[in-house]
Amino acid sequence: MRRYLMAGNWKMNLTPSEAKKFALELAANIKDLDKDVDVMIAPNFASLAYVKEAIAGTPIKLGAQNMNDNEKGAYTGEVSADMLLDLGVEYVILGHSERRDIYKEDNALINKKVKFALAKGLKPVLCIGEHLEEREAGVTADVVKKQLEEGLKDVSAAEMANVVIAYEPVWAIGTGKTATPEIAEATHQDIRNILTNLYGAEVAENVTVQYGGSVSDANVDNLMAQKNIDGALVGGASLKLAPFTKIAKFEKV
Ligand code: PGA
Repeated sequence: MRRYLMAGNWKMNLTPSEAKKFALELAANIKDLDKDVDVMIAPNFASLAYVKEAIAGTPIKLGAQNMNDNEKGAYTGEVSADMLLDLGVEYVILGHSERRDIYKEDNALINKKVKFALAKGLKPVLCIGEHLEEREAGVTADVVKKQLEEGLKDVSAAEMANVVIAYEPVWAIGTGKTATPEIAEATHQDIRNILTNLYGAEVAENVTVQYGGSVSDANVDNLMAQKNIDGALVGGASLKLAPFTKIAKFEKV
């Protein structure tokens, strides 16, 4: 049975003091959750230690927004898997479209990070999704297929139990233009089929596939009502306490 994962990607927002305050308030709101729901927040690296403390004793899990693909050494400005593990991080967001577009991360590098995270015992949240021109050209399914095949290269069926996929159409991120639940569901169904081809139906059925892109407290319930949408990766609305609390505690319709 697959689990729901409601996650906040705080991106480069909130200073450590602000992150701590927000996390304490969120922790007070989220003391219990349905058995099949997980909630995760991914603050910036500088805030991880504070947020870890703030959410201690609550079901909220800690995520990071990126990770280097090397063990350790002369990589100025980078953060390693061991550093994240030492801070209590459980999930790591990899291949976010901002990493792909601004920092030129390609599928090969993202695949190295995914495999490294898994080898270290971190759960990668592999982000995929098409740009507007690709959707308009009708090649969305091809784009996500390539991102999945290359991003998951040499990841075993057993390891897939620890992998989360986040489908985020780039045109919907931070724009207020959410894919309608039906449009999102159609691509989620494609993703489930691609995973079935790669790993078989049983493994594919159990993978949590999140939707991301302008998710809000107003649209979350309808998105989550779709058969193949198993969670949300939330940017803007995860920085607002009441909406994110509502997203974390979405209504199952
Ligand atoms: P958004 O961001 O919710 O602000 O659109 C989503 C994301 O980038 O993960």
